[in-house]
Amino acid sequence: MERPKYNIIMEGAKEFSHFYLLMDGEKKIIGMNDYKTLYSYPFLYEDLYYRVLGCKAHLGVKKILENFLHQELIDPETLNFLELGAGSGTFGELLNDIGIYKVSGLDIFSQAKIAAERDRKNLYQDYFILDLEKLSENDYFNLKRSNFNSIISVSATSLIPVKGFENALKLLPKGGIFVCHVRNDIENTNIIVYNWINQIIEKGIIEEKVRQSCFHRKSIDNRIINAEVIIGVKT
Ligand SMILES: C[S@@+](CC[C@H](N)C(=O)[O-])C[C@H]1O[C@@H](n2cnc3c(N)ncnc32)[C@H](O)[C@@H]1O
Repeated sequence: MERPKYNIIMEGAKEFSHFYLLMDGEKKIIGMNDYKTLYSYPFLYEDLYYRVLGCKAHLGVKKILENFLHQELIDPETLNFLELGAGSGTFGELLNDIGIYKVSGLDIFSQAKIAAERDRKNLYQDYFILDLEKLSENDYFNLKRSNFNSIISVSATSLIPVKGFENALKLLPKGGIFVCHVRNDIENTNIIVYNWINQIIEKGIIEEKVRQSCFHRKSIDNRIINAEVIIGVKT
């Protein structure tokens, strides 16, 4: 599908506030974190975050993961990834680029799954619509059946609470790979998740293999925002 270039106006916007979408003679105001609405327009999420706001998170994570697999001599085709907060598949498609073809998505909103199927047909083997924080026994059983040996989360730690990451970690077998892309500079869920990752590393629940900073994007007021990519292996 050809990617539309939207008429986006950032007038009066602050970090995670809103933007205006000019379309069909109308000026719509949309919340930057209103994922349901963002996913309802083909590639609008990408256009806002990746073109207008200059986010490069996906490229940074891809490069760091690729280097890790290369250094550890891990064959990408042996990996079976669950992507947490997968959205419309912006990052997921890059896993294919590095030879990882077994990828399933998980997101709280059905609009994300619809967008992934619309914009990136056949990318995900499976797509689970679940609130990761509130998995029932049945959800857990269904996820466990997929035998994921790797879990990844990109640009989602400000939204998915620690409990969600704890639930995800339970799905991983010993030796499973945990990849998390997390900002450590702001007082919200990010920093709580960041501290939790440090704790599970200290407790030896996962063994840290990589910790590398990468450019995330510029803030609305033009500050550079970096994030860390932490790769660990479950012990
Ligand atoms: C910023 S988007 C990131 C999308 C994609 N990973 C990327 O790199 O572009 C974060 C996603 O997390 C999802 N999300 C938020 N809370 C969640 C939860 N509790 N469980 C599952 N997904 C959640 C949102 O719906 C959204 O699609």
